[in-house]
Amino acid sequence: MTKDGIRIYEDADFDGMHKAGRLAAEILDGIAPLVFPGQTTEAIDARIEEMVNEAGATSATIGYKGYKHASCISVNHVVCHGIPGTKLLKDGDILNIDVTVIVDGWYGDTSRMYVAGKMNRKAERLVQVTHDSLMKGIEAVKPGNTFGDIGHAIQSYVEAHRMSVVRDFCGHGLGRVFHAPPNVLHYGRPGTGPRIEEGMFFTIEPMVNLGRPETKILADDWTAVTRDKSLSAQFEHSVGVRADGAEIFTLSPGNLFHPTYTTD
Ligand code: MF3
Ligand code: CO
Ligand code: CO
Repeated sequence: MTKDGIRIYEDADFDGMHKAGRLAAEILDGIAPLVFPGQTTEAIDARIEEMVNEAGATSATIGYKGYKHASCISVNHVVCHGIPGTKLLKDGDILNIDVTVIVDGWYGDTSRMYVAGKMNRKAERLVQVTHDSLMKGIEAVKPGNTFGDIGHAIQSYVEAHRMSVVRDFCGHGLGRVFHAPPNVLHYGRPGTGPRIEEGMFFTIEPMVNLGRPETKILADDWTAVTRDKSLSAQFEHSVGVRADGAEIFTLSPGNLFHPTYTTD
């Protein structure tokens, strides 16, 4: 069944999404000790690929539009789609690691922020606001609300903290496929957009910049960076809609979603 072109999943389908989401989150927990100054993002990605294989799962990103890696790793002013490489992480670098796995045909997509060494104050504020904006978006997930309510919750929170929401990338429906309708915008006006219904599965994955919201794509035709070179952060959960709100498929089993490791 679909509503406004958005697939409505069955009760039993939530189990499949929980399995896929849990594996993606476990992998993000597992690589936390690998993030340190002097490390390469290539080495982190190699371990992610190994963990996907050890679990008997499939990476959704390897082979996707010609992409060759099991993760995207976006450092500092890289907004998203950072390609793992040989550059060494420096003390104070912040990075988003984004993993999508396929388990029994179900897609689990999640990303979170890490720091190499010690985070500076400005970066810490950005990471905190970005994390909390995702949670505000998730709180707006209720049958009868609209996708514009999610975007508005995120945008108003971010802008109240004098930061900006990236417009050029959005969340997406997922489930049996990686990217499906709707586009989940991280900005918007209350009451606009499609209605949120029970059984919808989608990601919310706000990208927040310390400076202006504009992005550009590097000469590799892939990596997105902030135009003004300001620092950028992102968190992503995959969620399903229940009668009383969002069920998060990608909760961290080790409570490591937030890089201070004190709260979730
Ligand atoms: N996981 C990303 C998302 O949140 C998509 C990565 S596509 C890739 O939708 F090809 F860059 F891996
Ligand atoms: Co996603
Ligand atoms: Co993702």
